[in-house]
Amino acid sequence: MNAFPRGNAIKLSRIASNLAEIRGCTRISIFIFKRQALWAIIEKSMSTKIFSIANQKGGVGKTTTAVNLACGLARRGIRTLLVDLDSQANATSALGIEKKVGGSLYNAFFGEASAEEKIIPTGTKHLDIIPSEADIAAIESELLQLRQENYLGCLKSVLDPIKDSGKYDAIIIDCPPSLGMLSMNSLVAANHLIITLQCEYLAMEGLSQILETVERIRESGNNPELSIGGILMTMFDVRTNLSRAIVDDISNTFPQLVFKAKIPRSIRLGEAPSYGKSIFEYDPNGAGALAYDALSKECIRRFALRS
Ligand SMILES: Nc1ncnc2c1ncn2[C@@H]1O[C@H](COP(=O)(O)OP(=O)(O)OP(=O)(O)O)[C@@H](O)[C@H]1O
Ligand SMILES: [Mg+2]
Repeated sequence: MNAFPRGNAIKLSRIASNLAEIRGCTRISIFIFKRQALWAIIEKSMSTKIFSIANQKGGVGKTTTAVNLACGLARRGIRTLLVDLDSQANATSALGIEKKVGGSLYNAFFGEASAEEKIIPTGTKHLDIIPSEADIAAIESELLQLRQENYLGCLKSVLDPIKDSGKYDAIIIDCPPSLGMLSMNSLVAANHLIITLQCEYLAMEGLSQILETVERIRESGNNPELSIGGILMTMFDVRTNLSRAIVDDISNTFPQLVFKAKIPRSIRLGEAPSYGKSIFEYDPNGAGALAYDALSKECIRRFALRS
């Protein structure tokens, strides 16, 4: 005798085929979901990365690093935009760019211009710059006076259209030597903070302040995903025990963060800006160029930068 009457068998086969259909659909939707998740990861890893080069301490190699890392990346085919956010405009002049009235991001901060219209090409292929000039210093006090809503997110809003355009793989922001409004805005806009530390006595002084600032920005919800991209040791003097001791000390304290590339103290690196040239043009075979090229390669790997 048949275990299932004919009617039941038909029902069962319908249920089975429905189940197969559901399973098929589930498989398809899992496949689509996985594909979408994969695309989201790929898109995220391919999107423009914003780097803030900041440290409230003055003269620690922020500008030298912003300029030569930007050039180093561009030479390796990474489409790079350098944003000069310091009223000293050292990054602007280091690339031989003339300061011009209205050239900085000043009015873009207050919604009176777009950042795109401030972009100018440099002599280096794949490298553009948004220059600075003295007026940018006024942003510090004016943002506070205006009590503009979202005053920490102004730079992010200004840079978002450039980021969304997909025109650049990396945006590098050179910050002034303070943790004021401009540097805070750059930390809110950035994906990664790169901290330059001079290989000298008291190198770590002030490091805790910037790390606490990063923590506050994350916790405030202004940029929960801000990462400390790395610590770069600058003005390293291989001949001195002090330089080596400082590098060892900081590498032991932050083993994951310190870049393998160390920037040597080099007269050529100090001279290059006065000729309006990057170290790659001024002294392409010297120790400074080799070190900034090594840093560029390390950044391409560490941050999955690809054009
Ligand atoms: N590796 C180096 N070797 C020798 N001189 C260097 C090196 N790096 C930077 N310098 C010089 O040291 C001075 C300070 O460097 P830089 O302007 O890059 O520092 P900074 O942190 O941007 O300063 P600020 O805080 O004033 O913006 C400059 O004169 C620069 O040319
Ligand atoms: Mg500087």
